[in-house]
Amino acid sequence: MQLYICEICGEAHIGAEKPGDCPFCGAKENFIKFGKEADPIANQKIEISELSKKNLMETLELETKAAAMYLCMAEKSKVYEIRAMYKRLAKVESEHAAIVIKLLEMEMPVVNPETCSVDDVENFKRTIELEDRAVGLYKKFAAEAEETNIRKFFGALMQVEMGHSELIKKFLC
Ligand SMILES: [Fe+2]
Ligand SMILES: [Fe+2]
Repeated sequence: MQLYICEICGEAHIGAEKPGDCPFCGAKENFIKFGKEADPIANQKIEISELSKKNLMETLELETKAAAMYLCMAEKSKVYEIRAMYKRLAKVESEHAAIVIKLLEMEMPVVNPETCSVDDVENFKRTIELEDRAVGLYKKFAAEAEETNIRKFFGALMQVEMGHSELIKKFLC
């Protein structure tokens, strides 16, 4: 067994093999390091500019909203595969929110439940909209960030949300 740690969220994975993407935040394989080599961004004390703070707050809002929405979609679907997928997506987005909380050294806000459709296809379309919006925002936030590791964080998130959008698009084919 080996211990691997994600350089974005700081979560540990114990296993015989290095995982592909991070099982917790979804960060790409290149962010997964051997335990002692990792210096996770989520654990760093970073001097954050006002602009990045504002962008991180917007990220927090988006991620918590997405997590609540996916929980609703998981509950409403009648197909186990889709329920399981939305449950996982909700956990990944919650992990993203948790990283932001650590970076901003704040407490998790109270999150209101979201409403969603009973129709999977309608939910897929809403998911794609939300994920594509996140990709655009994180691309912009990464470009705006002067802090190397905040830029890295937004870049990593952008890739994860791109992957989510691609995954859902497959269900619509
Ligand atoms: Fe991670
Ligand atoms: Fe996310």
